[in-house]
This record gives sequence, C-alpha cells and structure tokens, in this order.
Amino acid sequence: MTTRFNHVVDGSPVLKDGDFRRIQKFLYDLSGIHLAEAKRSLITSRLSGRLRELSLSSFREYFDVAMSPEGSSEGTLMVNALTTNETYFFREPEHFKFLQKLLTENKSKASWRIWSGASSSGEEIYTIAMVMADVFGLKRDWIVKGTDLSTKVLKMAAQGHYPLERNEGIAIERLKKYCLKGVSDQQGTFLIDPNLRQHCEFSQQNLMESCDRLGMFDVVFLRNVMIYFDGESKQRVLNNTLRQLKSGGYFLISHTESLMNTQHTLTQISPSIYRKD
Ligand SMILES: C[S@@+](CC[C@H](N)C(=O)[O-])C[C@H]1O[C@@H](n2cnc3c(N)ncnc32)[C@H](O)[C@@H]1O
Repeated sequence: MTTRFNHVVDGSPVLKDGDFRRIQKFLYDLSGIHLAEAKRSLITSRLSGRLRELSLSSFREYFDVAMSPEGSSEGTLMVNALTTNETYFFREPEHFKFLQKLLTENKSKASWRIWSGASSSGEEIYTIAMVMADVFGLKRDWIVKGTDLSTKVLKMAAQGHYPLERNEGIAIERLKKYCLKGVSDQQGTFLIDPNLRQHCEFSQQNLMESCDRLGMFDVVFLRNVMIYFDGESKQRVLNNTLRQLKSGGYFLISHTESLMNTQHTLTQISPSIYRKD
C-alpha cells in the first residue's frame, strides 16, 4: 500500500478538499456540529458503504444526492452516519445520585417531566427512568423524554433492547427490577421492561432549532453534546434548551463540558449542575 499526502490509495473513494468543505458546511449549518480536519478519514470510512450501496464512485456525486431535497432520506442516513453516539448506562454516576436526592426531597410533587436532550441510543433515558422508578414506583405521573438528531439511535432507544455486555453500569437489583434477560434466540441481550419503558418518550429534535413543541421540563440533561459545537452553536443550543426548563428546574451538563463563555442566568450549584431561578 502507498500513501501520498493524506490520501490513501486502497480503492476507497477519496474525500477531496472541496467535498470535505462541502460536508463540513452542510453538517454545521444543519446541526452545529463542527467536523475537524482530523475527522476526514472517519467520514470517508463511515460514508464509503453508502457510495458502494448506491453504486456511486465519488463523494461529489454522493453529496449531490444526499444534500438534494429529493434525497432527504439519504440525507438522514448520512447525518446518522456522521453523528458520534457513544453513551452508556449510569454514565457520570454523581448526576444520578443528585437526581435521586432531588426526587426524594421533593417526593410530594405530583408530576415530573425530565428531558434527555441528546439521548443517543437510550441508555441515559433508561438510567433516569430507573432512578425515577426507584423513588416513585411505576404508578406515579412521571415521564422521561429522549430526543436526538439521529433517527438511527432514536430507533434503538425506543426498542430498549441491548447486548448483554452493555448492562455493566446497572446495579444487579435494578437489572432484576427493570430489565428482562433474553433467552433462546434473544440470548446475549436484555430488554428494558415495558412497564418502565412506558414512562419514556422518544422523538427527533435538532437542538439548533426551537424546542418549544416539547413542552417544559423540571430537569434537563444535556450531556456530552456541546463538545461538538463551536461558541455560536453552543449558545444557540443553550438558549433553545433553557427555554424549556421550568423556573426552579435543574440543568445538567457533562463533567467534561463547561458553560464558560456563554450567556445564561443559571445559578451553578456544582461544577456540572445548574439551577434556573
Ligand atoms: C456522545 S452522544 C451523548 C449521549 C448521552 N447524552 C451521554 O452523555 O451519554 C451525543 C449525541 O448528540 C447528538 N447530537 C449531535 N448534534 C445534535 C443536534 N444538533 N441536535 C440534537 N442532537 C444532536 C448525536 O446524534 C449523539 O447521539
């Protein structure tokens, strides 16, 4: 194999400079996600399969299809392929200890609406739901709303069906209470119990657009998504999400993120937890 400049000659189509700038602008305008130069080979590998599937030999032809109004279904597949969806159950466990405490201290509040604003394949939604169910049981009025840009991960979230090795972060008592272990042809998988799942809702939402239709929430989780945005997109997403947070509600970001250099009126109560007064 030979390499010259940054183009690998292995039979894969080459993502030329102009094509790269085109997909960079398209994704940024749509979602606020900035594709860094370092992501170039990742994009090539993630999209090459689609070119093969459509028998296209260049990214230029592929983008003509995927970015045209008639190619909107291909556009959706392309966006799905370009988002980074890493997630797991009970990620950043301190947040769920905080949530448990908050719910326990406000147990008499009649109903709760919690939003996972970049929910990926659902692990965050069901983690929140397990904590809700621990405190309130399954009969009370509470919902966890999960939204994401990618329709692919939302579909996985709605199914709530995972490979067994994904259950790592879930304590054994919760596994017994809220999950069903697959047997025979479902061996090696587990399913979120439909009784827990019925408190969860899923819908596509681009955080760069108004989120008004989702309604108002008591707690918003917006974790591990702002890292993909530049300052301008981050501010826009922040404005859109905070508009849906009730006064007195809580806003949680990842420990690796910060609201520095953004404008907001939240009160910080710990490094990654904020309250709207
Ligand atoms: C790394 S995952 C975070 C999952 C989960 N919140 C967690 O912390 O484990 C980031 C998610 O943000 C979604 N995303 C990226 N840009 C978005 C946008 N503009 N609107 C909505 N979701 C977006 C991606 O599709 C992806 O599923």
